[in-house]
Amino acid sequence: MSHHGRMHQSGPDVAASGSETPADRHHHRRVTSFRTRRSTLSPAQQATWDRRWPEIGMHARDGDVPAPRLDTATWFGRSAPVVLEIGCGTGTSTLAMAKAEPHLDVVAVEVYRRGLAQLLSAIDRENVTNIRLVRGDGVDVLQHMFGPDSLTAVRVFFPDPWPKARHHKRRLLQPETVALIADRLRPGGVLHAATDHAQYAEHIAEVGDAEPRLRRVGPDGDLPVSVQRPVTKYEGKAQHVGSAVTELLWEKAS
Ligand SMILES: C[S@@+](CC[C@H](N)C(=O)[O-])C[C@H]1O[C@@H](n2cnc3c(N)ncnc32)[C@H](O)[C@@H]1O
Repeated sequence: MSHHGRMHQSGPDVAASGSETPADRHHHRRVTSFRTRRSTLSPAQQATWDRRWPEIGMHARDGDVPAPRLDTATWFGRSAPVVLEIGCGTGTSTLAMAKAEPHLDVVAVEVYRRGLAQLLSAIDRENVTNIRLVRGDGVDVLQHMFGPDSLTAVRVFFPDPWPKARHHKRRLLQPETVALIADRLRPGGVLHAATDHAQYAEHIAEVGDAEPRLRRVGPDGDLPVSVQRPVTKYEGKAQHVGSAVTELLWEKAS
């Protein structure tokens, strides 16, 4: 089974109870690229969360109210190019890439609290200073928390492929989201997507190529961020069963 099969079950919507926030309930009313999962933390994770979240974490919404535009210079305590990663999962790539590029500031978005808690604990343990976390929908974050031309890169690694035709509308990388990403990237900024799902890869390639502000580039070009990803646990599994990983890169036209 590939990583996405593990992260999400298909079939009728099963919303986890008990850990829902008003934001979760709000999302049930519209089509999103994710489903709510149970998010119980271990006592150690919860303690780290309580200690560090107020400083390095934010919610994308408070009920129906989206968070205001982000002042990244204040949040990170410096002015540096900003990278947004949508759907960071447990943050394996986020952490490795942020450590490899300490001159970049990384905002990692995820709806899955347990994933964020795992990343938060690693950030705490390893004293990483250039990652901030947002819990919520990456589309909300793009729409409300960032302005035009503000991002140096947007990373989307192994987005849920929603393989059934009737679920395709749930896919994150659609023309509207890619247009929003193109708007939020600064000229020369990069959209980096990776997937092990062949049909989703084709869909993403078509959608990205159709966006007039984006130009497809190769990994060896003169890019403002590294496109070297570590192999995640899920990807390791995918490679094991023989699915090829497709890397897709675009640059925003200057
Ligand atoms: C298959 S996992 C991949 C996780 C990670 N990028 C990796 O490579 O291991 C996809 C993740 O995207 C998250 N996700 C899906 N839609 C999202 C959205 N609109 N905003 C934020 N996170 C989202 C899911 O909760 C899930 O954890």
